Amino acid sequence: MALTISDPLDTAVVKADFPLLSRSVHGKPIVYLDSAATAQKPTLVLDAMDAYYRSINANVHRGVYAIAEDATNAMEGAREKVRRFIGAPSVNEIVFTKNATESLNLVAQSWGRANLAEGDVVVLTHMEHHADIVPWQMLAAEKGLELRWIPLDAQGRLDLTDLDRLLDGAKVLGVTAMSNVLGTLTPIPLLTAAARAAGAISVVDACQSVPHTPTDVTAMGADFVAFSGHKMVGPTGIGVLWGRLELLEAMPPFLGGGEMIRDVRLDGFTTNEVPWKFEAGTPPIAEIVGLGAAVDYLEGLGMSAVREHEIALTTYALATFAERFGDDLVVHGPPDPAERGGVFSFAYKDLHPHDISQVLDQHAVCVRAGHHCAKPLMRLMGVGATARASVYVYNDTTDIDALCDALDAAGDFFAW
Ligand code: ALA
Repeated sequence: MALTISDPLDTAVVKADFPLLSRSVHGKPIVYLDSAATAQKPTLVLDAMDAYYRSINANVHRGVYAIAEDATNAMEGAREKVRRFIGAPSVNEIVFTKNATESLNLVAQSWGRANLAEGDVVVLTHMEHHADIVPWQMLAAEKGLELRWIPLDAQGRLDLTDLDRLLDGAKVLGVTAMSNVLGTLTPIPLLTAAARAAGAISVVDACQSVPHTPTDVTAMGADFVAFSGHKMVGPTGIGVLWGRLELLEAMPPFLGGGEMIRDVRLDGFTTNEVPWKFEAGTPPIAEIVGLGAAVDYLEGLGMSAVREHEIALTTYALATFAERFGDDLVVHGPPDPAERGGVFSFAYKDLHPHDISQVLDQHAVCVRAGHHCAKPLMRLMGVGATARASVYVYNDTTDIDALCDALDAAGDFFAW
């Protein structure tokens, strides 16, 4: 019996805001279930970027002519929108980067290089994305740091039994707010409080959580929070690092060049104020404007409604998978929709994830297959890869039904 859900979003209206979702693939209407990799873009974002290039394109913070001032105002206006969206105390705490990966590298290379020494401890978790592992491994190799790992329980949640021992003497805790593989939401305020009590700073990879849940960096209690624009209906090529002002002000620059300096002489340079100290070179202005429009779009939906929509759709998906496939389909991660986002990494019968993805593509169903940039987690799970479906504001129960129909077809195709 089909489950009915109460959804605070009118997904038919939302879907119509995203031009790409009206196209067909292989003669069938597209079913886009890969928003954990990148979200589709609404007309509002596309129009904002188009309007920027058509009417006010100029370099920022340099010219004193009208369109240069308009471009600067558009860019700095978007920074204020991002500040408001994540509840940051100061607009100077919003650093624009290329993506969340660059934001995390900035913390490791700037704060980490200046503040960590041989023998210092960085605590990470088994569910981190490579972007929150490799920058610390690079620094560890250079400086002789010790990396420790918070394990997972059987349901793919953090196992915090030994948290105090793992944090004992640590200088950094790096943790994701929501796993891009398991969907697990982690208890960020608890973790950051524990890190602070141990004398460690906390760096949160919020790439998956910021697009899907209301965010308040003050309530998170973190020192740094990183996320990307393209997963929150904004363009690619723009990310954000939020950091506590006093930490950002004390940190050395990450990249050198124009914009990040106050003065340059033959014998050295002085740095600009934050955030511009970390924004060397011409910034991705159109992408920043697009990110501002993405914030407008999500605020228009309401982030509480976005989260409620996702809980409802996750509830539907998990119940429908169980009803239609029983033990043939195993979804990794916590079974309780309140503890997870709408990311479903799954094993189906004994089919290889790439085979699943390929057959699904023939039915115009887009899912990701692979290691999801989380190879240590894959090793822990004992798999080389998973298929992963992930939902967002424009998905509804018909998309989950289409996924299930395509999985049936995949099962038939590979049956012998
Ligand atoms: N980190 C992105 C993902 O999980 C690209 O697919």
